[in-house]
Amino acid sequence: MPTLFDPLKIGPLTAKNRVFMAPLTRSRADDNEVPTPMVAQYYAQRASAGLIISEASPISPAARGYPWTPGLFMPEQVEGWKLVTQAVHARGGLIFAQLWHVGRISHPDYQPGGGPPVAPSAINPGGEARTPDGLKPRVTPRALEPHEIPLIMSEYRLAAKNARLAGFDGVELHGANGYLPDQFLRDGTNLRTDAYGGSIPNRARFLLEAAQVCIDVWGADRVGVRLNPSINTPGMLDSTPRETFGFAVRELSKLGVAYLHIMERVSYGDEPPPAPDDPTNIPVGFFRPMYDGVLIANAGFTLEKATRYLCEGWADAVAFGRLFIANPDLPARLARQAAGVPTPFNQPDRSTFYTRGATGYIDYPALGET
Ligand SMILES: Cc1cc2nc3c(=O)[nH]c(=O)nc-3n(C[C@H](O)[C@H](O)[C@H](O)COP(=O)(O)O)c2cc1C
Repeated sequence: MPTLFDPLKIGPLTAKNRVFMAPLTRSRADDNEVPTPMVAQYYAQRASAGLIISEASPISPAARGYPWTPGLFMPEQVEGWKLVTQAVHARGGLIFAQLWHVGRISHPDYQPGGGPPVAPSAINPGGEARTPDGLKPRVTPRALEPHEIPLIMSEYRLAAKNARLAGFDGVELHGANGYLPDQFLRDGTNLRTDAYGGSIPNRARFLLEAAQVCIDVWGADRVGVRLNPSINTPGMLDSTPRETFGFAVRELSKLGVAYLHIMERVSYGDEPPPAPDDPTNIPVGFFRPMYDGVLIANAGFTLEKATRYLCEGWADAVAFGRLFIANPDLPARLARQAAGVPTPFNQPDRSTFYTRGATGYIDYPALGET
């Protein structure tokens, strides 16, 4: 039975343990959306993770939807990310870049020219966008013209190449959480009648093409894909999520991607956790027989739950989000807990998740620090 503390092969790489750091937007890039030395320090503090998946990194200006998120489309950003990858590697860690296009979740303030954001179909997601000037109502996006999709693929390609230049160990395609590839996948957000809409294979085409672009740049054994089949964000509906995501997972298995990173339903504290028999919360284990590579599970894991998933064979590794925000030395804390040594966690402070300074970012103590 593997434990969280056993190494794991991912393509040509070996993760030193199976406690992975989930991608976490922290909005600490500078005004030019370039990672700073403080960002490098934050990631270096967490280099004991078996694998770090970076915060989501926009692939183009139009792909952005949140303030001060470090991108991968400008040379200055590549230089900033080099500080991060070098600092993580110096501490013996591995780090993948998460490639991000938010689609309709963006706002005209982020769009070159100030127009509406793009999406598979012109459906307003509702709610408010976070902009550098505060919250603003989201707008109805513009449906992408068929000829624009290859342009977005070329942006994914450029960002994947930039991730190589920046010294990452691989890339994770962000296919989860209601952003552009997820908007294409679901029949509630994709009403297209061309080759990218309608049937499940057509709706999965965007995700699979983006994955192929990453594979072209990196080779399949350094490409991961994140999916969230169980999202319950208003408007992100799919009438047959098991079939839709089952198809995507089987096709990604055929592409031979190095890992799949699958989220279960998450409660961030505002809403109740899903009922155990809620059919829209699809367990990670449902996808296990459909996929041959490394499977990473995420959302709401504790030591006990992670150990159970590994023992049952439902997952090969577990990604931790909020616990890694507050506990830079999370693998050491979990190892002590597993050995029966009472070891409390630092508690994450939600009020500083997206604020700009060092507070709540690089000041969570490791064990033995005060
Ligand atoms: C502050 C914050 C930022 C996040 N940013 C991202 C992100 O950039 N990309 C992503 O795929 N998920 C993001 N997530 C989701 C986390 O990766 C993770 O799925 C979630 O926190 C649930 O895992 P946990 O229960 O271990 O925290 C974010 C979550 C939080 C709390």
